[in-house]
Amino acid sequence: MLSAKVQTNICNPKQAARLSRVVTPLLQNYYLGYSTGIRVGFVASVQHNGGSRAFSTTPATNFKEFFPVKETEHIRLTPAVWPHHGYTEEEMLSVVPAHRPAKTWGDWVAWKVMRTCRWGMDFFTGMRKDQKVDKANPTTAVDTIKPLTEGQWLLRFLFLESIAGVPGMVAGMLRHLHSIRRLKRDNGWIETLLEESYNERMHLLTFIKMCEPGWFMKIMLIGAQGVYFNALFLSYLISPKVTHRFVGYLEEEAVHTYTLAIKQIEDGHLPKWSDPNFVVPDIAVKYWHMPEGKRTMKDLILYIRADEACHRGVNHTLGNLNQKEDPNPFVSEYKDGQNPPRPALKAEGYERHEVL
Ligand SMILES: [Fe+2]
Ligand SMILES: [Fe+2]
Repeated sequence: MLSAKVQTNICNPKQAARLSRVVTPLLQNYYLGYSTGIRVGFVASVQHNGGSRAFSTTPATNFKEFFPVKETEHIRLTPAVWPHHGYTEEEMLSVVPAHRPAKTWGDWVAWKVMRTCRWGMDFFTGMRKDQKVDKANPTTAVDTIKPLTEGQWLLRFLFLESIAGVPGMVAGMLRHLHSIRRLKRDNGWIETLLEESYNERMHLLTFIKMCEPGWFMKIMLIGAQGVYFNALFLSYLISPKVTHRFVGYLEEEAVHTYTLAIKQIEDGHLPKWSDPNFVVPDIAVKYWHMPEGKRTMKDLILYIRADEACHRGVNHTLGNLNQKEDPNPFVSEYKDGQNPPRPALKAEGYERHEVL
């Protein structure tokens, strides 16, 4: 049995015990490809009289398949409604962490709110000082003194993805309601926004296949969604432009997080994910059409990071457009053989004059 211990800064045994139940990344037996009980347990450790005390998580015998495929008497398969468009390897490797500097007051507010959210996420995922990147370049620096563990990464991915799936749905819903209430066309924004939230949910479902959240994590997710949904709902009604900018900054964080994880895998700090017997969940293989021989954790994160880079480019671009009248350039056909915009490679988004 393998066990990964996550050292936290928390010295209070009660708090540490709570954190220990936040998530239980259990790489299931079948999932790691082993026939006997190999388990990567996420266990918060407490410095206790100079020693360390591990808090047990879900027993190995309690492993369960989350949302198993639902088969009925007549239905064989329910395919994805929005099939993934796919990427070339070159596209995925071209993604880099980047930051669009704030140019307006609205940008500045969005950026500051994002900094607060990032601080909260670092805190709740138990990130220590030596695991953080340079404060001056929080979305581009990738060097840390110490790596995170697989358990910490999964906790971070889960939290990030559960949050990231909200804005597209809120924005799409509000634009849909506006269109049917005011009897106006939407010019193609709704589908892109809803597809973005669908894509984020696929990220979350993929990670959920690798870990089992405990009751504390589940409560945190419910609480975070309640606050975040309502905040975004109001924010999008007041200023959709600033909200798209905020989501652009959120996606910068996502690209940064996944870039850091890829680097730590490449540097050999996450051995469980580099294990040749490690295979990514079926749901991911099917959704991204991951080819045989390209199904490692690093490959999976490369796909997810490319998705985040798309969201980053799309939202920064949408934040530059006239919210009421402009068509969505990402679903538009261009005149004179002009190529459509490629958001993954345009980290700061397109300016209005570049795409209309
Ligand atoms: Fe995501
Ligand atoms: Fe995203």
